[in-house]
This record gives sequence, structure tokens and C-alpha cells, in this order.
Amino acid sequence: MQDNTVAILGAGSMGTAILSGMLSHGIKKENIKATARKTDSAEQLAKKYGVTAYATDYQPNANSLAVEGAQIILVAVKPVNVIEVLKQIRPVITENALVISVAAGITTATIESYLPGSVAVVRAMPNTPALIRLGLTGIAAGSRSSAEQLNLVVELFNAVGKSVVLDEDKIDALSTISGSGPAYVFYFMEEFIKTAKDMGFSQEDAYLLVTQTFLGASELITQTQGDPAELRRAVTSPNGTTMKAVAVLEEGELHNLFLKATTAALARAKEISQEQK
Ligand SMILES: NC(=O)c1ccc[n+]([C@@H]2O[C@H](COP(=O)([O-])OP(=O)(O)OC[C@H]3O[C@@H](n4cnc5c(N)ncnc54)[C@H](OP(=O)(O)O)[C@@H]3O)[C@@H](O)[C@H]2O)c1
Repeated sequence: MQDNTVAILGAGSMGTAILSGMLSHGIKKENIKATARKTDSAEQLAKKYGVTAYATDYQPNANSLAVEGAQIILVAVKPVNVIEVLKQIRPVITENALVISVAAGITTATIESYLPGSVAVVRAMPNTPALIRLGLTGIAAGSRSSAEQLNLVVELFNAVGKSVVLDEDKIDALSTISGSGPAYVFYFMEEFIKTAKDMGFSQEDAYLLVTQTFLGASELITQTQGDPAELRRAVTSPNGTTMKAVAVLEEGELHNLFLKATTAALARAKEISQEQK
């Protein structure tokens, strides 16, 4: 993989997270070309990462310039820009190139339909912690990608966290758990901080109490690889204070609430993917 030539189309927030992962994985900066819309963004990319960068505002053919000769092409523009970008690169794309798309809601079949038959497509759904290399990415093969190409994509996303390979029809479901998941966690934190303040803590102390508790609990489960129910029981002494609190939480039927929330997210994902066809 180290010797591959790469084009990153739309090196924004997710594109640059993956770009950093590629560099840490040994792909040479000389072998990477990236694009953005604004000239400023492209200049920043060149300065910060040492890659060749083009801006579509300055060079309308920026995406095709980046793609010429590239063996791996990462499509990381917003979903609404994907089709226009695919149309731009089609005439110059390398035969047998591998296209990896992180665009939410756009299927491999749609992407394949805009590219030559010799080009393989793999879809990946990372989440925001990929920005600090603690991401979780769901990876699905397209109809033309080989096992070797799929492994290469897994290797690539493992440089920004962990990954699971799944059938593409499970990508939307994964997105309702790990994709949206960080937002659910931040929402708990928001509410938990408000609760701490109701208990008389200052904003600063409430923030520390809650964020450190989330960090500590996450590390504890990660380091022990323990069962969450077991770990919960370990801090719940019979007839103690935690037991009283957990009993109240159980009355709130959290499982049903999660199921309702993720079902709503899944229904919206299906609508979005219809809109993007
Ligand atoms: N962020 C996430 O957590 C996350 C998670 C899963 C999937 N994704 C997917 O990742 C993709 C990018 O999301 P993001 O959050 O990284 O967005 P972003 O930060 O806005 O990045 C988009 C990038 O595309 C560039 N751009 C816009 N039009 C372009 C064009 N025609 N050609 C080339 N580059 C163009 C933008 O340049 P300028 O900055 O100069 O405008 C920017 O660098 C989306 O498809 C999204 O569904 C994101």
C-alpha cells in the first residue's frame, strides 16, 4: 500500500483525517494529491501535509488533475457534490483504480454507474472520532471490488481507528449506531452536566465530573473488554445509592427509547439515499 498513488477529492474534515492516517501508514506525501473548493483550503493542505493540492475555485479541472494516474481515489466531498465529481473524473480515471467513498447515503451501485466497468468501488462510513484516530468505520464492498482491495481499505481505516466489514445493506443501520452515536453521547453529557449543576456544582466542576466519568468508564470497559452489565453491577451495591438511581433509569425504558431513536435515523437514511440517486 505504501507505494500507491492517491487522490483525495474533497480534503475537508473527514478527508484530512484519512489523509493523516495515510501518511502515518507510510504512504508518501509525494504520492498524494488532494482537492478542495477554495484556494485557501488547498494552500493549507499543501502547507500542513506537504501534499500536492488543487482548488476547484482556481482550477475547475482540479479533481481530474488529482485523479490522473492515481491508483486509489478517496471521494470525501459532501454527498450533494459526489455525482458532479464522478462525472469530472470519469474520462481520466486509471483503469483498475480503486474508488473509496465516504459520502453518506450514496450507494456503491450509484457510484459504479458513473465510472468505467474496470474501476472498483468500496464504501466506508467512518465517524467523527476518526479525527483523533479513535474512529469506527463500517466498510462495504461494491460489486466489482476484490477481497484484496477490501483488505486494503480496512487497513487504511484501521489507521484512524477500528473497522468492521459488513454488507452494504447494513451501512445505514451502522450509521444509526456508530455514525450518529457520538451525538447521542454528547447529548447524554449535556443533560448530565445540567443535572450536576442542579445538584449545586459550578459549570466548570460539572463539566469535569461528567467528562472525566465518561472517559474513565470508556477506558475501563476498553481496557478490561468487560461486559457492560457486569461492570455496572460492580459499582451497584445491594440497596445502595447507585441501585436506587439505576432503578429510576430502568423505569425510563432506555432500550425502547434507543430503538425509537435509531429507527427514526434509519428511516431518514433511506429517504436521503432515495434523494441522492
Ligand atoms: N464528518 C464526519 O463525521 C463524516 C462521517 C461519515 C461520513 N462523512 C462524509 O464525508 C464527506 C465529507 O464530509 P466532511 O464533514 O468532511 O465535510 P467538509 O469538511 O465540508 O469537507 C468537504 C470538502 O470538500 C471540498 N469541496 C467542496 N466542493 C468540492 C468539489 N467540487 N471538488 C473538490 N472538493 C470540493 C471542500 O472544500 P472547501 O473547504 O474549500 O469548501 C471541503 O474540503 C461527506 O460526504 C460526508 O457524508 C463525514
